[in-house]
Amino acid sequence: MNNVGIIGLGHYLPEHILTNFDLEKMVDTTDEWIITRTGIRERRIADQSQRNSHLAINAAREALKNAKLDPHDVDLIIVATISPDTSFPSVACLVQKALHARRATAFDISAACSGYLYGITTAKQFIQNGLYKNALVVASEKISTYIDWNDRSTCVLFGDGAGACVLSKVPGDRGIIADYLHAEGHFGELMEIISKERKSCDQTVKTMDLPRISMQGKELFKAAVNSMAHAALTVIKKAGMKLSDIDWVIPHQANDRILSAVAKKLDLPKEKVFVNIDKYGNMSSASTAVALYEAVEQGKIKRGDNIVLVTFGAGLVSAANVVKW
Ligand code: ACO
Repeated sequence: MNNVGIIGLGHYLPEHILTNFDLEKMVDTTDEWIITRTGIRERRIADQSQRNSHLAINAAREALKNAKLDPHDVDLIIVATISPDTSFPSVACLVQKALHARRATAFDISAACSGYLYGITTAKQFIQNGLYKNALVVASEKISTYIDWNDRSTCVLFGDGAGACVLSKVPGDRGIIADYLHAEGHFGELMEIISKERKSCDQTVKTMDLPRISMQGKELFKAAVNSMAHAALTVIKKAGMKLSDIDWVIPHQANDRILSAVAKKLDLPKEKVFVNIDKYGNMSSASTAVALYEAVEQGKIKRGDNIVLVTFGAGLVSAANVVKW
């Protein structure tokens, strides 16, 4: 039986670039602190008129074009996101409408920074069991909606963007060889979207603060290193491979220091770990999608290479795939 594989990739990044120097004017921070603590130099921020679906639709269009697939032939659309336009319609339905992909089933999934890999593994099952032939998986985030631009501990970390892929059966031994999905809900409070109530002086609730990201950075850092290393080793073992068989690791981009620590823990040369956090910050589910797109576009990943996609995110949720390109 042929494997399910990736036959086209797409991405979309908002034009507006917010640099560390711009942030210096907004909160008590410095370019030097942000670079040394995170590796981030700049990030993209969608403007007011661009909703999440705008990003998702553009990434989806490019992925279909690269896959040379007509929207009518798409059977399934999954959008991974934690920052949808609204609760409903789903972003997946908005993508379906824009593409005129009328035959497609469409739904969103919420798995934070692991959403792209949760989406890929979910779509893969539908193709493998014969229910669908072609699936479009999009990871799209307008995470700037949830940023408190007065909170220096979080506002320097995130950015907006989208990536996408088309999945279908592929010939030979190529394709997605192994999957790993994991959740640890008991650590959920380490990173949450919270809304605080503000009370008037007579103690009656007057307003709610806008929902915003709350994060326990140090604890997350340790959890991220341990769970990404564990996910990578587990999926490589499931694929019947050794670490030395892996040509590239494409990880979720939350902090360059996390990526160095994962490489060290795995005893893997950092040169095999693709890093683009300097340009985009943490785009949650879209980070891995855009990283994979760029690694292929830059010619780093070549046909026949074994790659590990590995993620970690709020929930806590981790995921990994081994893909023979
Ligand atoms: N500029 C300047 N100083 C800052 C800033 C800033 N932007 N932010 C915090 N500081 C200060 C703190 O107030 C603290 O000051 P103090 O020592 O006087 O109290 C000091 O810098 C050190 O702060 P720490 O929080 O200890 O810094 P740390 O080295 O842990 O780095 C960071 C913080 C970058 C958030 C790191 O902990 C991290 O990356 N954690 C993981 C985050 C993560 O993975 N998040 C997402 C995962 S899930 C998902 O992606 C959806």
